[in-house]
Amino acid sequence: MSVALPPGSTVAIIGAGAMGAGIAQIAAVNGHRVQLHDTRLGAGDAAKKNIAAALANLVAKGRLASADAEAAVARIATVVTLADSCIAQLVVEAIVEDLAAKRELLASLENVVTPECILASNTSSFSITALGSGCKRPDRVVGMHFFNPAPLMPLVEIVTGLATSPAVAETLYATARAWGKLPVRASSTPGFIVNRCARPFYAEGLRLLAERAADPATLDAVIREAGGFRMGPFELIDLIGLDVNLAVTTSIWDAYFHDPRYAPSVLQQERVVAGFLGRKTGRGFHDYAPGAAKPAPRTEPPQSVPARVTAHGDLGNAAPLVDRITGAGVTVERARVDSRFPGGAIHVDGIAGGVWLALTDGRTATTRVVDTGVRDLVLFDLALDYAAATRLAVARADTCGDPAYASAVGTLQSAGIAVSRLDDVAGLAVLRIVAMLANEAADAVVQGVAEPAAIDLAMEKGVNYPRGPLAWADAIGVANVRDALAGLAAHYGEDRYRTSPLVARRAATGGSLRG
Ligand code: NAI
Repeated sequence: MSVALPPGSTVAIIGAGAMGAGIAQIAAVNGHRVQLHDTRLGAGDAAKKNIAAALANLVAKGRLASADAEAAVARIATVVTLADSCIAQLVVEAIVEDLAAKRELLASLENVVTPECILASNTSSFSITALGSGCKRPDRVVGMHFFNPAPLMPLVEIVTGLATSPAVAETLYATARAWGKLPVRASSTPGFIVNRCARPFYAEGLRLLAERAADPATLDAVIREAGGFRMGPFELIDLIGLDVNLAVTTSIWDAYFHDPRYAPSVLQQERVVAGFLGRKTGRGFHDYAPGAAKPAPRTEPPQSVPARVTAHGDLGNAAPLVDRITGAGVTVERARVDSRFPGGAIHVDGIAGGVWLALTDGRTATTRVVDTGVRDLVLFDLALDYAAATRLAVARADTCGDPAYASAVGTLQSAGIAVSRLDDVAGLAVLRIVAMLANEAADAVVQGVAEPAAIDLAMEKGVNYPRGPLAWADAIGVANVRDALAGLAAHYGEDRYRTSPLVARRAATGGSLRG
């Protein structure tokens, strides 16, 4: 097992901006002497002052002893020249995201540091192999990718380039652990783990918007309330900045030679050129102007609750939905699975044969009308937890009559669920996004970017997903993920929805994506 750099050893941080200051704070609190260097006059001192204020805040909240805060600040020295980093055992560069500048910096550092010193980069988008290739000793160049704000976000991606020594990566891994972080190992591929595996969250959200499945507020509400994500894609992009998010997407798309899976959205580009950059400019997908009303999701008006429904099959993950309907006083008859709805479905009696309510499987409701011969059909979306979901998206087949649709909506409303109707899009919103997140994560496993457990941990801790995408696919059933992707691929006829070989294999054998 590798040993962490000992407290008391010196860590040099180059670049005292948002990230550099955060990393300096972490190292100082963990007992290292810190040398902070920035080419911008006064930047180091300003960062030190901000760190002192952040630590004073922790003291006020009772999370840090005042003596420890003072000692941590005293361990930070701002230094004027790179040569002052000569005694550092670790240098973390967090300068501007510019490949030439970073390569030049690393090459200069090689001339001043000891042969044992580790050279780490906090880059979020550049290849660690490319950064190391400009050095005499690329074996000691490694990625140490923190998330913003670094002192609060637990995840750190430890990224190895082709020439990085495994021992160097392991020392850094152990050091990040000793600092109380949750490190994950990743190989140097575009976007590493998090920025790559998160792409479908934005991309499929944007795609749904481009198809006018619903407005941003409705899609955000569905992803939050049914999907269990803390924010929907549009409010999150507004927070990140439309320009920053587009730049990350574009860099990954470029790095993968324009693989259509990562293609940026024209809709987002249009807003960026208009200057609608999100919260920071007061307008993005949502309006943040003073006095602007918080956009409300579109929600179906209350419909009458049916007296009796029949649950065909146990509905798998959606079984708690039937319990909620029962709990609302609706009589629920149990029946065998209907061969037209192998995953289970709810039938609501009514005029002209009633209506079927079934979980989306990747096909549109209207396609399933053709496949099943059932005209009055409403599909509902995936939920993280059907026992707790407060909202569900539905799609109504083009052939579904008004009274039939109303009784399907009333059935879901009886369970205390707000219903948002999307246009009849393939895979609805949550299933589509989760299936594509799992597919991307599975491809990252296939390509050796990281171990399955590291990917799930990275997505839970780096972007706060309610569940790792691989564990989520296992919970839904990998075959259901495969079917959702097949439905999307058949509907759009695009390579974007191709199935990861791992999803295909595990679906065929009933195995786990984490196995
Ligand atoms: P920033 O713009 O806040 O800070 C960069 C600092 O580097 C500035 O103070 C600048 O004066 C200084 N600098 C530029 N060239 C320099 C040089 N040659 N030598 C010394 N100092 C130099 O940028 P931020 O946001 O802190 O990002 C820094 C790095 O961290 C970038 O590589 C970025 O991609 C990465 N990163 C940023 C995240 C974020 O959310 N902001 C998250 C994770 C990584």
